[in-house]
Amino acid sequence: MTGAAARWRALVAVAAVVAVAAIDATPAAAEYGDVVINRRAERGGVRPVVFPHWFHRIRFRCKVCHSELGFRMRAGANDVLMADVIDGKFCGMCHNGQTAWGAEQCDLCHSGKPGTPPGIQGGNETRGPGRW
Ligand code: HEC
Ligand code: HEC
Ligand code: HEC
Repeated sequence: MTGAAARWRALVAVAAVVAVAAIDATPAAAEYGDVVINRRAERGGVRPVVFPHWFHRIRFRCKVCHSELGFRMRAGANDVLMADVIDGKFCGMCHNGQTAWGAEQCDLCHSGKPGTPPGIQGGNETRGPGRW
């Protein structure tokens, strides 16, 4: 092998390692992503809920939601009824027309593309409705 070819091979190998590392580093974490909540929504005849986690976590402490409001820290783990939200629980603690816009704004929460399963989507790619 010539010196140039060897150096080229080495470069390609390094590039491949870097590419793999970049893929691994993509945060599939809810902290940075958007969480689709769809245990009940579509069965109830409305679109899946898109929860922009990043948008919220830069405004509130983790414990507001994960301890005081009782949201379990696992995508898909929470059983939320719309009646609870209207009652001021879960999202409804803030989405009450005072701290934030209220429960009558169905489309702002139920904005997911039909068929999107519960779980984390992307990495902080949307501030809110529309993408997933
Ligand atoms: C602040 C966010 C938010 C708003 C606004 C909102 N929802 Fe929901 N809704 C949720 C969440 C979260 C769930 C739980 C989804 C799941 O687990 O699949 C839910 C679930 C539902 C469900 C299925 C569960 C059940 O209890 O029947 C229906 C139907 C529903 N919403 C209708 C509506 C309608 C109609 C409106 C407007 C009048 C609305 N929602 C506004 C967040 C919201
Ligand atoms: C405004 C409310 C809110 C705040 C603030 C918040 N979260 Fe969350 N978090 C949620 C909701 C809602 C879910 C999705 C639950 C579901 O799908 O049922 C979630 C999901 C998660 C998950 C699950 C990830 C997975 O892979 O399943 C983790 C981890 C998490 N949050 C960590 C944090 C941390 C760390 C902070 C603070 C830096 C934080 N959250 C702040 C509401 C919040
Ligand atoms: C601790 C308070 C709090 C909780 C709990 C909370 N939100 Fe919010 N949310 C806010 C505030 C404040 C805003 C900004 C409102 C504004 O801009 O007027 C907001 C904005 C949003 C937006 C729009 C983001 C944008 O780009 O403007 C969506 C969508 C949303 N919330 C969905 C939800 C859903 C779904 C839940 C429950 C899973 C939830 N929120 C729970 C406080 C909260």
